[in-house]
Amino acid sequence: MPEQAGLFSPIVIGELELPNRIVMSPMTRIRAEEGCVPGERMVRYYSQRASAGLIVTEGTHPSPMGRGYTHPPGLHNDEQAAGWRKVTDAVHKAGGRIFVQLMHAGRVTHSSLLPDHALPVAPSAIPVFGEIHTFDGKLPFETPRALETEEIPGIVDEYRRAAELSIAAGFDGVELHAATGYLPNQFQVTGSNQRSDGYGGSLDGRTRFTLEVLEALCGVRGAKQVGLKIAPGYTVNDMYDEDPAGTYTYLAQRLNSFGLAYLHTGYDSGYARGTAPSFNPIDLIRSVYTGTLLAVGGFTKASGEAAIASGRTDFIAYGRPFISNPDLVERFRVDAPLSPWDVRTFYGGDDHGYTDYPALGAE
Ligand SMILES: Cc1cc2nc3c(=O)[nH]c(=O)nc-3n(C[C@H](O)[C@H](O)[C@H](O)COP(=O)(O)O)c2cc1C
Repeated sequence: MPEQAGLFSPIVIGELELPNRIVMSPMTRIRAEEGCVPGERMVRYYSQRASAGLIVTEGTHPSPMGRGYTHPPGLHNDEQAAGWRKVTDAVHKAGGRIFVQLMHAGRVTHSSLLPDHALPVAPSAIPVFGEIHTFDGKLPFETPRALETEEIPGIVDEYRRAAELSIAAGFDGVELHAATGYLPNQFQVTGSNQRSDGYGGSLDGRTRFTLEVLEALCGVRGAKQVGLKIAPGYTVNDMYDEDPAGTYTYLAQRLNSFGLAYLHTGYDSGYARGTAPSFNPIDLIRSVYTGTLLAVGGFTKASGEAAIASGRTDFIAYGRPFISNPDLVERFRVDAPLSPWDVRTFYGGDDHGYTDYPALGAE
């Protein structure tokens, strides 16, 4: 009988062989330097976590208008690519593999973070309810400007250019962030997309932006170096859809022909703001999608092992456990206790709560 797969079974993702199935989930940490350039602190943070089967970086904006935070990293100019190159070189030197997550904030940002204090852009002029962190503290979300049809190819081009820069930056691949309320997600769901052109209305229209960006990324890197993150039924950042199961069944079916490195999905239990969908997104997507699946959301070592062994997913992304356990893979291997994370240092700050969580033996 073949040995049952588990967290420590190697797996081939596109063209990469991962030594284990423990992925470091993308996590925004708001610690880039001036100009949204990754600095030495980020080099240390990511290289400390290089034993992950794969690292997916924090959300990284492909254009100045896609920026959503005070100190996020970007990937739209040579200086940022050079900063990232130091990160990827250090991760590779430590034996790891790393994808960059491309994240355009769309309406989930504020004019004070954008060039010339322009209004955020979105599929439709519908604001997010609530407040956003800016340099001037928390401010209410603004009503975004609805994108003109003619502007959309330009945004797809920005993602294409970021994919080109990801090669110069030394990344092994790119993940498109099309989940948790950011621009592609805003196009996908009925609550934030009320367009009457070819980018709204029908399932075909609402998923068009996501698929066009994906095609652009695949055109640059090849589909085997491109992943996609989706969050069916996830309501964070006011992502309301009339029929989330129908929308994401359709999208997953369309994705079957792409031959992507992986599709990343789940429900961020525990971390989640908003309400849970009435269905399990991992099982829904698994039942429709024929490619490699990356599941995320509240997994432990035991539940990750069980999900892989039962075939619910192919590999697992861990978020918060990686924040406080740089050597999470080793801790899982030897069944060592995990260090607890501190939510107060998740977003922004210095080395504290970022690069000062010790590895086993150094405690
Ligand atoms: C501090 C923090 C920042 C996050 N930032 C991102 C992000 O930039 N992109 C993304 O796709 N998910 C982001 N997430 C979600 C995680 O990738 C993951 O889906 C979530 O934490 C659930 O996994 P966990 O239960 O293992 O933590 C973030 C989560 C945390 C805790």
